Amino acid sequence: MRSLTRRRLLQSGAAGLMYAAAAPYLARATEAAHFQLAAAAADAPLVVPQGPPTRAWLYNGEAPGPVLRARQGDTLIVDMENRLDEPTTVHWHGLRVPNAMDGVPHFSQTPIAPGESFRYSLPLNDAGTFWYHPHINSSEQLGRGLRGMLIVEEPEDVAESLGADRDIPWALEDWRLDENAQIAPFGGMHDAAHGGRFGNVVTLNGAIRDRIEAAPGERLRLRIANLANALSFRLDFGDAAAWVIALDGHPIAPREIGSDGVWIGAGQRADVILDMPLSPGAEVPVTDTAYGADYAYRLTTLTTSSAKPLRAAERPAPPALPTNPIPLPDLGSAQLHELRLEGGMMGSMRSGMMGGRMMGMREMMLEGRVWALNGVAAAAEMASMEPLFSFGQGRSQIVTIINDTAWHHPMHLHGHSFRVLGPRAQNMSASDLARTPVRDTVLLAPGEQVAVAFVADNPGDWMLHCHILEHQEAGMMAVARVA
Ligand code: C2O
Ligand code: CU
Repeated sequence: MRSLTRRRLLQSGAAGLMYAAAAPYLARATEAAHFQLAAAAADAPLVVPQGPPTRAWLYNGEAPGPVLRARQGDTLIVDMENRLDEPTTVHWHGLRVPNAMDGVPHFSQTPIAPGESFRYSLPLNDAGTFWYHPHINSSEQLGRGLRGMLIVEEPEDVAESLGADRDIPWALEDWRLDENAQIAPFGGMHDAAHGGRFGNVVTLNGAIRDRIEAAPGERLRLRIANLANALSFRLDFGDAAAWVIALDGHPIAPREIGSDGVWIGAGQRADVILDMPLSPGAEVPVTDTAYGADYAYRLTTLTTSSAKPLRAAERPAPPALPTNPIPLPDLGSAQLHELRLEGGMMGSMRSGMMGGRMMGMREMMLEGRVWALNGVAAAAEMASMEPLFSFGQGRSQIVTIINDTAWHHPMHLHGHSFRVLGPRAQNMSASDLARTPVRDTVLLAPGEQVAVAFVADNPGDWMLHCHILEHQEAGMMAVARVA
């Protein structure tokens, strides 16, 4: 599709014999569920040895940041130290935390100034695959590498019932690098008015990985997180036995992946159970087809080692994981809202509200505002934003999102997880409702409409925005007040 360059595809495939073990790089807890993070400039070996290290901004010097692991029911403590030259915050994407811990500058905390620290105290209500990233100057801070995965494990016996031999986080990132493998400058309206900032190199756990080895018959739980600024992925696993078991951390009835693949928009996650073939030397291609056949490329290839197979026969589909304690909305009594996405190139938006004043598209462009939610382009200065939505605290909400643009948008709500009902809200039985996927980010195709429902049970002012960070910064962000 549109902005993907050939160079990215070539570089993705050019890694030659690079091989690295898929073993997860765990950050060590200093005590139970207590971690230290420091954001600072550091070198990342993204394309080493084909090229030099890349000067990046990283958590604890690692690309991606360390995987934080804790257990459901724990309180996660993270001491965050800012060693950058600019303010930062950390947002815990997908976690339902109190507003003051949500990491949004001005709305939930004062930004962490250079040289300062902040302690995050995060109740872990839900098990699943989550991630963390700054929420200030986001396009640049994430695009330079500040992003990492957060895994909340289920109670022990549950993990066992899945029968996974290994639990492997896969952090997918893209990078826009110049000829010297250094990060290309940020800003400019082109990315913002189109599909966002696409990279020309895609990394898996911080490197280009052509091959990842597993034992014959091994059952892998892949926790795949899309940490890219803008890129979507649509992954398939060839003929291998593979099921999606969770989306955005929340369990679904296991669904066989097949050739349809699994879509993972910017900010989204998918947990996949993959059963490796029983024979040694077998290959499982992992292909990304998000931008059509012309741009399809091999993300990596899983290969079976010559070890003795772990089992003699193929296994049945995994069981569903237990659901997280997300309240079921009452659709009948829900407050109804509409959220219309507008703007961008090739769209129909001609004008919008900015700072309480009507502006023409040309004028908005000059101000760097090219996207609007319900006709309002978010101010560049977040502190001055007024709520676009008011959600009655404790009440059920249905928001119908209409994508009136020519682009994809992964729409993300803070503080809550929502159920994706389908194109429109209709009456459904409690058991049908309970089967709808729970997400924190929903990917809308051009022209698509999606209704989501949730109970507004977490008081505060919450961000609602497109997770294409260049869209967010160019107006596609709003505040929803729960009170
Ligand atoms: Cu992952 Cu408001 O963001
Ligand atoms: Cu968008």
